[in-house]
Amino acid sequence: MVQPRHHRASLVRSLATAALAWGVLASAHAAPQAKPARLGLCAACHGETGMAQIPGAPNLAGQKLDYLREALKQYRDGRRNVPLMRAAIGPMSDADLDELARWYSAQTPATPSNQGNP
Ligand code: HEC
Repeated sequence: MVQPRHHRASLVRSLATAALAWGVLASAHAAPQAKPARLGLCAACHGETGMAQIPGAPNLAGQKLDYLREALKQYRDGRRNVPLMRAAIGPMSDADLDELARWYSAQTPATPSNQGNP
C-alpha cells in the first residue's frame, strides 16, 4: 500500500519529536552522573564521594580520570597485586571500571575543615 506523501511526512515529524523528547530525557538523566551500580561496594572503604572511610584507603575524589581508570585495570589484571582491591573489583568489565573512575574523578575532595562537620 502506498501512503499519501503528507501522511508519511507527519509520521516522520512525530518520530522526530519523540526522538527529541527522548534525547532531552536521557540527557537530563545523565547529568549529574547517576551513581554507578557498583559504587556501594567501593563506598565501604573509599566513601561514596571518594573520601576514605578506613585507615589505609586512599581518597579518590577529584583524582585524574585516566589515573583512576588505569589503576583499576592494574588491580584487575594483577599488575597491582593488592588482594583487597583485587577482591573488590573482581572480574568487572572495562565499562564498569570506567563508570567508577568517572564517578570518583568528578567528586570534589572535602577539605579537612569541612570533613566530619555537620
Ligand atoms: C575493603 C576496602 C576496599 C574496597 C571495598 C575498595 N577499595 Fe579501593 N583501595 C583500598 C585500599 C586499601 C587501597 C590502596 C591499595 C594500594 O596500596 O595499592 C585502594 C586503592 C584504590 C585505588 C587506587 C588509588 C590510587 O591513588 O592509586 C582505586 C582507584 C580504588 N581503590 C578504587 C576502588 C573502587 C572503584 C572500588 C569498588 C569497586 C574499591 N576501590 C573498593 C581499599 C578498598
